[in-house]
Amino acid sequence: MKIFIDSGNLQDIQRLVPLGIIDGITTNPTLLAKESGDYKEILKKICQIVQGPTSAEVTETDAQAMIRQGRDLSKIDPWIVVKVPLTRDGIQACKALSSEGVKVNVTLCFSPAQALLAAKVGATYISPFVGRLDDVSTPGMELIRDIVQIYENYSFKTEVLVASTRNPMHIVEAARLGADICTCPPAVIDALFNHPLTSIGLEKFLKDWEKAQAVKA
Ligand code: G3P
Repeated sequence: MKIFIDSGNLQDIQRLVPLGIIDGITTNPTLLAKESGDYKEILKKICQIVQGPTSAEVTETDAQAMIRQGRDLSKIDPWIVVKVPLTRDGIQACKALSSEGVKVNVTLCFSPAQALLAAKVGATYISPFVGRLDDVSTPGMELIRDIVQIYENYSFKTEVLVASTRNPMHIVEAARLGADICTCPPAVIDALFNHPLTSIGLEKFLKDWEKAQAVKA
């Protein structure tokens, strides 16, 4: 399963990419609004660091305006993926942009029916938000199970990009269900490494080794 960082922060991205586990980046207007500087410059730098798919979201809501803005975003770097919301206008824009060869990530997906529409218009990625569903007492991972099943039934090429992840179990469950990608905030990626028994075990190994070296010295 591919792992993307859900962030527009260059420091976080520069810290995590050298780990060798990062396959791409997702941003959204809320994440980019937190960063100072020109957003196109930031996106260009992100693409240079990660050398992988980097989602940049349109802020227009009318189909023709989204298409124009999407073409403009795609010119920033070959790694740019244009993100559009799952609205009627977003689906129309996805159809137009994907038919021009622009990679499109359809975001703000909350139902299997919505995901079906995105696949039918050639979306490269679909972004179902599991955390925001959990927030309203609706099991987000059930949406992932349904979308993976539907996409397999019809051999859709659209990749399932699990978004709004909040903890390592979202990533584990997504992997179990066969999702293609998880995008995660930096803190969730850091937590993936953690297990208390790993720390305890390593500490004992090193202590035992030092003790033995001291005896032999
Ligand atoms: O990029 C979209 C998504 O990941 C947002 O996550 O935590 O704001 O629900 P969150």
